[in-house]
This record gives sequence, structure tokens and C-alpha cells, in this order.
Amino acid sequence: MSKKFRVGFIGCGGIAGRHFNDLAEEKRAKVVAMCDPDPNRIKTWKERRPELLKAAEYADYKTMLKKEELDVVYINSPHNVHYEQIMNSMKAGCNVIAEKPMVCSIEHARKVCAASKRLGKAVIVAYQRRYQSGYRKVREIVDSGELGRLLAVTAYQLQGWLNGTKGTWRQCKEMSCGGQLNDSGSHMIDILLFMINDVPKEVFCFLDNRGTEVDIDSAVCARFHKGTLLSLLVGGGASHWREEISFIFEQGTLSVYGNKLILQRGGGQPQEEIALEPFAHTPTRNMLDHLTKGAEILVGPEAGLRVMQLTEPAWKAAETGLPQKVKM
Ligand SMILES: NC(=O)c1ccc[n+]([C@@H]2O[C@H](COP(=O)([O-])OP(=O)(O)OC[C@H]3O[C@@H](n4cnc5c(N)ncnc54)[C@H](O)[C@@H]3O)[C@@H](O)[C@H]2O)c1
Repeated sequence: MSKKFRVGFIGCGGIAGRHFNDLAEEKRAKVVAMCDPDPNRIKTWKERRPELLKAAEYADYKTMLKKEELDVVYINSPHNVHYEQIMNSMKAGCNVIAEKPMVCSIEHARKVCAASKRLGKAVIVAYQRRYQSGYRKVREIVDSGELGRLLAVTAYQLQGWLNGTKGTWRQCKEMSCGGQLNDSGSHMIDILLFMINDVPKEVFCFLDNRGTEVDIDSAVCARFHKGTLLSLLVGGGASHWREEISFIFEQGTLSVYGNKLILQRGGGQPQEEIALEPFAHTPTRNMLDHLTKGAEILVGPEAGLRVMQLTEPAWKAAETGLPQKVKM
């Protein structure tokens, strides 16, 4: 093994732990620098993970980018700073693994996509559902056309987000740039767009902030270019976690419960569970495979753009009370 890729972290809160876990399984990279405006966050991770003890510590990410020659930067900060941190990291010569939502506007997403191409730096968005075989199988079935045309998709995502994130940056509009639609809802929107494999043409939405600064519950409707209709409820004010997605085709309905797929065909046939092949990838492994072997990037910056192309019109529709055409 020759060179180890030099990794830096911007934001060392809760989600950083998942990326530390993924990196711990990799011999091709090591964390050499950690940045967080709160030094206690870095201290806590160093106490838990001896492999981080030698990492240099920074309060300011620009100083870290200047002093360390980093190959890969992980961006795990509040949503309002993702854009400038992604752009400055690429300009400093780094490849980026960005937490979701990649950025918070269509305009910023387009700029990230263009800069990634222009500078030749990889951007991977940490939408981990893309690495789960159930969702990948649904996409395969949609693309195959074996159940006929995809007529409609209905989904709900329930979480106790309203109470669980009280008093944190997530309910501060300036830092989160939106509420649960832009937080956990961002995962759901990304995976729906991936599975439907089409782009929305028109979007409508009702929102309820439940007395906070940000959206808590959202009911989003969309019509896609090939005619598929979508109805999505992101319920941040629920008392519990629960999700369900159903794909209604001309010749059957496929229901998705995480990694369990149940198919109901027409003609009174019994329900069947669809067998899945394991698919073991992570954003970290994908990045390192890309840098060492030229592997295809599985979730690039276009995914961040597509999510904003649904989220931004949904916010606009809720604000104006009018359906919004999606600008491609
Ligand atoms: N992929 C997932 O499933 C998943 C899960 C949770 C969070 N996330 C995403 O990860 C990111 C971080 O979320 P979290 O749960 O770790 O939040 P967190 O509040 O636990 O951590 C955020 C950290 O960022 C630091 N910070 C604040 N301002 C900063 C700045 N300007 N520059 C650098 N760091 C700054 C804070 O001090 C804190 O340590 C968000 O984008 C969030 O949506 C993704």
C-alpha cells in the first residue's frame, strides 16, 4: 500500500461518527485534521476513538484547508454553510463527501455541479439509502418496465422530529434553511427520485410549521415528465418513526419497507416478497474506489441538485399557494 489519502473533517458532531466508522474499515485513508468551532466536539471524538488522537485540531475550516494538504474533506456542518465549505474545499484541491442536503438552493447546487467538473474534484453526497439493495431493486424494476407504466408513487416518512430537535440548529431557519423536508425529508426525496428515475414537471405543497420557524409537516404532490404522480407526506410532528412507500404500476403494486419489498400482482395472485442481493458500499468506500481505481461515483452532486429541484418549488408552492413548474 503506497500513499494513504489525507482526510479532514469539517463539523464533528453526531453524524461524523458514522463516517469515522466507515473510515475505520479502510486502510487507504486516515483522518489527519478535524475542524469544529466547538473544541469539545473534537475532544469527545478523540476520547472515544484512539485513531483520531493525532489529528490536528482547527476551529476555522479555512485555516485547516490552507495548512493541511487534504485529499478528501467530509462536510458535516449545519446546512447554511455547506455551500461555501464545499466550494472552498474544492478550490483548495480537495475531493468532498458532503452531508445532505448538499446545499439549500437550486442556484447553489448548479454551481457545485459546475465547479466539480471545472476543477476535476469529486463530490459525493452522503445519501446512504442509495447503497441499500431494496431501493436499488425497485429502480431496476421501474427501469425494466416488467410491471407496465409507473402510474403513481405514495410515500410517508414519520418521525418525532419536532420534539427531538427542539432547541438545536435544526429548528433555526437561518442555519437549517428549512425544516424536516430539508433534513430527513431530503433522504426520502433523493431515494424517491432515484427509484422513479424521472424528473418532476410540476410541484405543489402544503406545509405546517407547528408554531416553529421551520416546516415540520409537509404534504408534497408532484407530476413527473413521463406522467407518474407522487404524493409524499413528511411528518416531523409524529410520535414515532415509521415509513412506507408504494409504487403503483399498471400491473401490480410494489411496497417498500426499507430492505423488504412486497409485490402484489393483479389477477388475485398471492403477495410475494422479492429476493435481494447484498450491496455493501458506503460514501467513503465509493470515494476511495473512485480515487484509486476510477470507480463510478454512485451519488454525485447532480443528486443534490435534483433534490433541490423538488424541495425549492415545494417551499415556493406552500408560500404562494400555487403549483410550481420545475425549471431544469
Ligand atoms: N446522512 C444521514 O443520515 C445524516 C444523519 C444526521 C445528520 N446528517 C447531516 O449531517 C450534518 C450534521 O448533522 P449532525 O447531526 O452531525 O449535527 P450536530 O449538531 O450533531 O453536529 C454539527 C456540528 O457542526 C459544528 N458546526 C457548527 N457550525 C459550524 C461551521 N460553521 N463549520 C463547521 N462546523 C460547524 C457544530 O459545532 C457541531 O459539532 C447535517 O448536514 C445533517 O443534515 C446526515
